[in-house]
Amino acid sequence: MNERPQQIPEVREPLPQVERAPLIAGNWKMNLDHLQAIAFVQKLSWGLKDVGHNYGEVEVAVFPPFTDLRSVQTLLAADKLSLSLGAQDVSPHESGAYTGDVSARMLAKLDVRYVLVGHSERRGGHGESPELVGEKARAAHAAGLVPVICVGETADDLEQHGAAAIPLAQLESALATLPSDAEFVVAYEPVWAIGSGQAATADQAEEVARALRESLRDLRGDDRAAATRILYGGSVSSQNVAGFLRQPNVDGALVGGASLKVDEFTRIVQFRKHVTAG
Ligand code: PGA
Repeated sequence: MNERPQQIPEVREPLPQVERAPLIAGNWKMNLDHLQAIAFVQKLSWGLKDVGHNYGEVEVAVFPPFTDLRSVQTLLAADKLSLSLGAQDVSPHESGAYTGDVSARMLAKLDVRYVLVGHSERRGGHGESPELVGEKARAAHAAGLVPVICVGETADDLEQHGAAAIPLAQLESALATLPSDAEFVVAYEPVWAIGSGQAATADQAEEVARALRESLRDLRGDDRAAATRILYGGSVSSQNVAGFLRQPNVDGALVGGASLKVDEFTRIVQFRKHVTAG
């Protein structure tokens, strides 16, 4: 009889226990002008104050269009609000003849902390390649911003390759150009769930988030894998957010449509109330 070496599945040590403060991020996309943005952020901060929200426990970020950033920054600074500011895109270049682009340094000057890279609406709608997504992440980091690397499979990908294969490949490619000490956030957003009203299940989100974290161990080592926040995005609402956040590898939500309704977004931020309520 042939003695074949058996495939022994790799059993890994558990990751070090690290507290990851959840991040609830509102991606406004191309909505709200700067006046509406000011009114919205004011209302949001009052609402969160009323419910005694602790920003140290759950970080809240808004990602307005470029034209709103200065107005929102001014408001956050004047009223000493603890909301974080994010941008929806960034140029891979430092400066120069790039008509229409906005550099990471310009964003950093506006106290922007996060920037989305690789959102499916940019990969798909603007033909952004995996290399370009990596370049944008690198440029963001170089200016002191934290890139939020968006990954996710289309419905076709899901059928052909399963849920995790494409997100894992996209993450690996985005990290290829990012220095090894860079802080980043990962947002898992199945393309079929974005804006469709058909969110992934909490189990589906956890399965891919877990695979992404395992891959981060290989790509960046255990400490970075344990510290990195992985968000779920795609039709998140106050009805389903608690289920996602209950998962051990889901550390927040990237919210599109529901982040434009101030009461609904306030409820989403308070997901802990739903979690403890079961
Ligand atoms: P959605 O969008 O919540 O409207 O599905 C999420 C996103 O595109 O980030």
